[in-house]
Amino acid sequence: MDTTCLESFSCLIISILLILCLPLSATSHFPSHNATVYLGSSFIQEALRRARELTDTAYAHTNDRVKTSVSDGSVRPSDLLALFKQTGPKTRTHVRSAEFLDNTVELIREMVYTHSMDKPDLTELLSAEDKETILQLTGCSSETLRPVCKSDCLSKRYRTITGHCNNRENPQWGAANTPYARWLSPEYEDPRGAPRGWNPQHTYHNHTLPPVRSVSQEVLYTHNENISLDMSLSHLLVEWGQWIDHDLTLTPQSPSTAAFKTGADCTRTCSRDTPCFPIQIPLSDPRTGTQSCMPFFRSAPSCTVPLGHREQLNAITAFVDASMVYGSSDGLSAALRNLSSPLGLLAVNQFHSDQGLGFMPFLTRTQMNLDPCGPRERIDPIPLSETAQRLNISMGNRSFCFQAGDSRANEHLGMITLHTLFLREHNRLAEELHMLNPHWSPDTLYQEARKILGAVHQILTWDHYLPRVLGRSANLALMPPYEGYDPTADPSISNIFSTAAFRFAHVTVHPVVNRLGPDYRLSPEHPALPLHHSLFASWRVVQEGGIDPVLRGLLLSPAKLQTADQMMVEELTERLFQAQGGLPLDLAALNLQRGRDHGLQGYSAWRELCGLSAPVNETDLAGILGNGVLARKLLNLYGTAKNIDVWVGAISEPALPGGRVGPLLACLIAKQFKALQDGDRFWWQNEGVFSSAQRDALRTTSLSRIICDNTHIRLVPFDPFAHTLHPDDLLPCARIGHMNLSAWREPDTDPVCGTVPRLSLGFSVLCESEVMYQCPTGYLLQGATQITCDPNTHQWTPQPPTCQDIDECSAHPSVCPPHLQCLNTPGGHTCTEPAAPPLSASSIVASVMSVLGGVALIVLLLACYQRLILRRAEPLKAECCQRRS
Ligand code: HEM
Repeated sequence: MDTTCLESFSCLIISILLILCLPLSATSHFPSHNATVYLGSSFIQEALRRARELTDTAYAHTNDRVKTSVSDGSVRPSDLLALFKQTGPKTRTHVRSAEFLDNTVELIREMVYTHSMDKPDLTELLSAEDKETILQLTGCSSETLRPVCKSDCLSKRYRTITGHCNNRENPQWGAANTPYARWLSPEYEDPRGAPRGWNPQHTYHNHTLPPVRSVSQEVLYTHNENISLDMSLSHLLVEWGQWIDHDLTLTPQSPSTAAFKTGADCTRTCSRDTPCFPIQIPLSDPRTGTQSCMPFFRSAPSCTVPLGHREQLNAITAFVDASMVYGSSDGLSAALRNLSSPLGLLAVNQFHSDQGLGFMPFLTRTQMNLDPCGPRERIDPIPLSETAQRLNISMGNRSFCFQAGDSRANEHLGMITLHTLFLREHNRLAEELHMLNPHWSPDTLYQEARKILGAVHQILTWDHYLPRVLGRSANLALMPPYEGYDPTADPSISNIFSTAAFRFAHVTVHPVVNRLGPDYRLSPEHPALPLHHSLFASWRVVQEGGIDPVLRGLLLSPAKLQTADQMMVEELTERLFQAQGGLPLDLAALNLQRGRDHGLQGYSAWRELCGLSAPVNETDLAGILGNGVLARKLLNLYGTAKNIDVWVGAISEPALPGGRVGPLLACLIAKQFKALQDGDRFWWQNEGVFSSAQRDALRTTSLSRIICDNTHIRLVPFDPFAHTLHPDDLLPCARIGHMNLSAWREPDTDPVCGTVPRLSLGFSVLCESEVMYQCPTGYLLQGATQITCDPNTHQWTPQPPTCQDIDECSAHPSVCPPHLQCLNTPGGHTCTEPAAPPLSASSIVASVMSVLGGVALIVLLLACYQRLILRRAEPLKAECCQRRS
């Protein structure tokens, strides 16, 4: 750190050049100390100023482009990918800081290079103070601050929403908005983090990397019709994988769609300029002619030390904690709750229900044109139903996209279905817990239901999903029985897991979404859909029979079988996110390009990490893949096994016995899940997290039961991840056992202090030997918020509090509008029209007098009328005339 730059000749030159060349404003601020040693603060300030300008300008360009596409009414596939990965304000702040930091360092490099034509080692040019300044001014300092962890009883009982403080020593481990872990150092094309293949001529082990689209076309592309079915696994298993992935990883991409340096629109340009890293479309590609590149945005960097290599960010919590249901930020988790319910419920849709069962709320979007989840007349050959059109109009600025704990909820019908199912299950659990513990506050009910749902996800994943993916024997070998929480295990998701390993299941996705009627047969009412018609088609669950037809389809349809010559279906390679036009994306190409963007090392290095042999020639590779044709294809493209992009190499390996992945994937997936288990303080089997009676109850959890409890489906398979051949093999829900929640009934007494004092009007919860109190809205807690059982006196100390009604009407300014009167009620108040004031005796007399006076006046007027007007009119009457004559 203290190595002086004077020792380095190049730095001396640079320093002199900088002093000569920098603008006056910058040089005049050079500090007296360190000025000739390091670049100096004026230089840094100048770089920061320009970097801020570049970052802000690119973000502004992006906003302009979005506005234009709004007025065009066009949502392009790359816009959908951006929406798919949309993140909350916390992540956006982090990403902006990190991009600002990245641009600053890049500018410093360029400024130095321009002045010295020397590719400098910045470690020699930036002092510790300079680095600190950069971190402070870009905002990265505050992004990487160590959080302060609470240590009260409830924080030992419930996870934080953000995942912080799970590990007390390393409170950032596994938390949202932290960088992915690296199990192997990255291999970027330059020391800063240029992706592999940034320069297509760059060689690795004497070979250039093939365009990813060529790999997709030549190795992965599979006709939709040319697939084999996995006759032992249901498509629900495939969905479960994606569902769990959305609990574990979300890699934000740069929010800027414009190149930082040039301002070029990444959706149109073919030049590589961060964040644009377009996917080149080779001449041999059938898509050639439309556009020569497919847009691709680099994953956003995360805040790291200024001169470190680029790292990517996980925007959500790593833990299996059902964060896709609850969100990974405090803001989102609050927005998802029904805060006016006393039951700790999640909010449900206010406009529609699924025959009485809840849907997720709609996401409020102000730019209606950008809403991708409504019916799409232009591309949908299936005509829009009249109701769908009416619905579209009547929703005003309300979107059809649902709001959930994860931004990818609307991606396709299967995802929407699982989100809806678990939203309902939370509410069901919270209501059942309320019946058992009516004294629990809405917060306690929410947290307990959330804790149970998290445990249910851990059990279903470890006991039911993983053994099928890894194969029973690999599962036993790689995932030994749980031995307790290990505070030295880092549960953070690794870059290789999110960017390659857990994307394995992309090759098991079926190209057709089957929707089945109540008898589990195809019904003309809800026809099967090609996968791309199910993408962002949230309106279909609202309009076309709710989630049941989709869920029945997932239960009864088999998964696609991955084989060496049938990898990824064309629905995903040729029609991904095909919306209102624009060049569809290619999921295989995205996976490969993403791996290069993240600097993942090649296939052989990962095999070595796993203690597997590294293939040195074609025979070796053919042996490992069990397929000479595939080995030849890969080597023709890559030249050497060392360069094969790890994702395609790994999915090319034949599956282990009874599993669906080969040895490399089994190793990487098991390593990650083991870390997620051992490094999670709230792991369901960790001592003290649940009581043993609760653990026994949790073991009985069943996905089929959850389906029975939260849908109208009455026939389910015993094992929903196994492929059911025939509807006759299904069981009535009555035969599927319930998870008994009685172990969650809170004891009324404490073994030492006896009866637990509860409040007649307020809420309480027993946590170890403490009782914590809360009052409902409209009441004020008077006294201690918590009391403790004193083991010496066997008494609760201090006295329990009371909840006293708040007199809202005495508040200043008044809670009611000025013309209304405030009436205090228990727990609330009402604003009413003021009553008329009571009448006094004199005012009654005055009123009577004025009424009498009025009557007298009317009589007088009538009399005058009769005399003057009517008398004068009399001669006109006939009899009068006769009398006169
Ligand atoms: C219809 C089915 C699916 C579709 C359309 C789909 C689509 C996508 C897309 C578009 C991406 C982002 C690619 C990128 O920009 O890098 C992605 C990422 C990913 N997918 Fe899938 N996927 C599907 C199913 C699955 C399944 C079944 C799994 C796992 C079992 C899975 C695991 C992943 C993972 C781990 C990522 C990386 C997530 C991140 O870090 O942000 N996907 N998927």
